[in-house]
Amino acid sequence: MAMPAAFQGATRISALNHSTGNAGSTSTRRAAGLKVYMTATLPPKSKGLNVSKQPLEKHSKIMHSITPEKLELFKSLEGWASETILPYLKPVEKCWQPQDFLPEPSAEDFLDQVRELRERSACLPDDYLVCLVGDMITEEALPTYQTMLNTLDGSRDETGASPTPWGVWTRAWTAEENRHGDLLNKYLYLTGRVDMRQIEKTIQYLIGSGMDPQTENNPYLGFVYTSFQERATFISHGNTARHAKEYGDGKLATICGIIAADERRHENAYTKIVEKLFELDPDGAMLAFADMMRKKISMPAHLMYDGENEHLFDDFSLVAQRTGVYTARDYADIMEHLVKRWDVAHVKGLSSEGEAAQQYVCSLPPRIRRLDERAQAKVKKGPKTGSFSWIFNREVALL
Ligand SMILES: [Fe+2]
Ligand SMILES: [Fe+2]
Repeated sequence: MAMPAAFQGATRISALNHSTGNAGSTSTRRAAGLKVYMTATLPPKSKGLNVSKQPLEKHSKIMHSITPEKLELFKSLEGWASETILPYLKPVEKCWQPQDFLPEPSAEDFLDQVRELRERSACLPDDYLVCLVGDMITEEALPTYQTMLNTLDGSRDETGASPTPWGVWTRAWTAEENRHGDLLNKYLYLTGRVDMRQIEKTIQYLIGSGMDPQTENNPYLGFVYTSFQERATFISHGNTARHAKEYGDGKLATICGIIAADERRHENAYTKIVEKLFELDPDGAMLAFADMMRKKISMPAHLMYDGENEHLFDDFSLVAQRTGVYTARDYADIMEHLVKRWDVAHVKGLSSEGEAAQQYVCSLPPRIRRLDERAQAKVKKGPKTGSFSWIFNREVALL
């Protein structure tokens, strides 16, 4: 999925120099008793590496911000997580696999099946392909997301095969997600419409870049982030499904649709965790929600790079915005959805800081929509078209 175009201007800066303003206020608020690290990631200088234009994270960083009491509370949720969260996983035997939706290589008519696929997908326009490739690349950077989950204190998989429900969840979630990139990758490969080598390079760069969504090793922040992200991918894949159907590739519509259904199930699990935090620690959950919203949710693939275009993510986001695959309105809608999902407006028993966070969060969706309108006006001054190496440098309208 993509960062909405509403945040294009900010994205170009924040992707490289992540929300220093907010991080500053956060560090002041939490400085006492916390390990505060300032990190700046500089581009590698090794000879022969063509990475000088590659976007990299660079920002101040707070680590291990969860208090011992909250960590205790989180750990006490293991029994609850086993009963309530693990059932959101599907047993492997009941899961679809990519092969269910792809030509069967051992079949005699394999090449005919491939030909059919290629004829069907010929209807897909270039801007659609750009969105689907971007979504696929985002899915393919899965190692980064598993790493991110395993940065969280209290829920990380301590051994790589930890029997705690959090460890079980993280591995099984990863295994379910792994089917998404796999299926989209193989499908796009078979269409013959895209430059697979450029796409593969983008994936390699992206995984190499990693990601720091500023969740501070804190599971409160981490699960607000994942709640948002799963919803965003649900929307994005749902839209690529709808568009594929409209263009006439019904099989691709089914593929995007079943991936969207997985994202929805994952969203339900992550929002359930945050709902529980709101129940047990309303103040802590409220502050965490507001904190992540203030920082803006950085998109998982915001550091994407193909070795050529340092604004690749911005360009991709513009195409996603213009075609309606993932838009600024979606960003605001997700926020509004989460505010309702956790009944944020009616949470009681808050400190004055918690009440301020509550007001802030509830007022955000309309504010974001207003900001979006202003940002759109600025975006319109940018280049009207862009070429994407993913589709052999063909030009696509950005605006
Ligand atoms: Fe996914
Ligand atoms: Fe997902």
